[in-house]
Amino acid sequence: MITFALPKGRLAEKSAEMLSACGVDTAVLREDTRRLVLTSADGNYRFFLVKPADVPVYVESGVADLGIAGKDTLIEEGRDLYEILDLKTGACSLCIAGYPERRDVLTNAHLRIATKYVNTAKKVFAARGEEIEIIPLHGSIELAPVTGLADVIFDVVQTGSTLKANGLVVLEEVFSGITARLVANKICFKTKAAEILPLVSKLKEVLA
Ligand code: PRP
Repeated sequence: MITFALPKGRLAEKSAEMLSACGVDTAVLREDTRRLVLTSADGNYRFFLVKPADVPVYVESGVADLGIAGKDTLIEEGRDLYEILDLKTGACSLCIAGYPERRDVLTNAHLRIATKYVNTAKKVFAARGEEIEIIPLHGSIELAPVTGLADVIFDVVQTGSTLKANGLVVLEEVFSGITARLVANKICFKTKAAEILPLVSKLKEVLA
């Protein structure tokens, strides 16, 4: 049996679709249920439904063999796992965004940055030698500059519609090519190679 940590939310549907396309019985994922552990009817797969940011910890620990996580989450979490495949879906960028008429804010001596990517933001700005204040938030990041809580945000931008709806623009793209990735626990990848490798091959075919 292969155990997956699958992200709830915007990557959920696409993840199920991809696994299904390579022969994984994912019918159970379409059930309207609050259960967080689901097993495929054939008994070959178990799915843990987790918050996207928590996928790496489930996989690193070995509680899950495989997981699907955004590259943004992998960068932020910095977990010790194998990133085995770019699933080329959910493409977005990690950007600094704010008000267009206040671009000069980036040169503020004490820039206030709202983000849910605290570790990544610290590294990015430390590398530039800039002194900043991080305001950690869990969601609705765009609200921070709108309300004056922060000068700018450091966040993922996919369609750009949330920024636009709140009068904000990308001031700087920091990481592009953020997509969903298939990740594996380092030990499970070896001990369950006979089950995992054929699945990876099929996924590659589906992606091609
Ligand atoms: C993410 C991100 C932005 C939005 C960007 O939030 O934090 O708010 O998506 O997507 P867009 O460019 O397509 O508008 P998410 O929807 O995951 O919800 P959250 O605010 O709860 O973090």
